[in-house]
Amino acid sequence: MNVLVFLGSCRASSPPNPPRLGERVARHLVGEASTSFDVQLIDPLSLPIEPVFRPVFTRPAAEVPPAMAELHARIRAADAYVMVSPEYNHSPSPALTDLLNAFPSSAFAFKPSLIATYSSGQWGGTRAAVGLRTFLSELGCLPVSAMLHYPHADRVFDAEGRPAAGEDAARWSSYAARGLSQLAWWAQAAAAQRKAVDPFAASPPFRRRPTERDAPAG
Ligand SMILES: Cc1cc2nc3c(=O)[nH]c(=O)nc-3n(C[C@H](O)[C@H](O)[C@H](O)COP(=O)(O)O)c2cc1C
Repeated sequence: MNVLVFLGSCRASSPPNPPRLGERVARHLVGEASTSFDVQLIDPLSLPIEPVFRPVFTRPAAEVPPAMAELHARIRAADAYVMVSPEYNHSPSPALTDLLNAFPSSAFAFKPSLIATYSSGQWGGTRAAVGLRTFLSELGCLPVSAMLHYPHADRVFDAEGRPAAGEDAARWSSYAARGLSQLAWWAQAAAAQRKAVDPFAASPPFRRRPTERDAPAG
C-alpha cells in the first residue's frame, strides 16, 4: 500500500512561531506511517500553484504544469491519504484545500483518508478536522473514524518531527498507530474491492458538469 501525506501549510509569517509548524507534524507522521506504508510527502511549496485558480481537470493536458500532472498521477496511483492541516480560523488550511481542489475527485475516490490536525493552541485543530471530514467525504476519499489532533505541536515535536525532550515518544507513536492502522485496513480492503469491481462503472465521474448528478426534479 502506498500513502501520500499532504502537508497543509505554506506559511512564512511570524508570529505565531514557528512558521510551518506543519513540517514537524508531517515529518512525524511520515516516520510513523513508514512502518506499514510506502510513504510520499506532498509539499505545496514544491508545486507551481498559481494565484489564478485553474484546476488541472479543466485545462488541456499541454497547459498543465508538469509537476501538477505528475502529482495527479501520484494521487491516482495512491492507495490512501494522510491530510495534515493546521487550524486557521477554525477551518482547514487554504493551502491544503486549494491544492486538493486542483484535482478531480475521481483521482481520490474509493480510497480512505486519515485526518491529522494541529495547532499551537490547546485544541489541536479539532474544529478544522470537523470541516475537513466533510471536505474529504465530498472528494470521495472517506476519512477513517480515528482522527489525530496535535495541540501545542510546537512544544510536542522538534524541528525533525521527533517528540521533544520530556514527551512520551511511545505514547505519541501508539496514538498515531490507531489512525494509521485503520487507514491501512481500509486501504487494503478498498484496493481489493477496486480490483474486483470497477467502482466507476456504476458511479461514473461527471463528464462535463456537476449538474449531471442532480436529482431529476421537475
Ligand atoms: C491565519 C491564522 C489563523 C489561525 N487560526 C487558529 C485557530 O482558529 N485555532 C488555533 O488553534 N490556532 C490558530 N492559528 C494558530 C496556528 O495553530 C499556528 O499558527 C500554527 O503554527 C499554524 O500552522 P503552520 O505554521 O504549519 O501554518 C492561526 C494561525 C493563523 C496564521
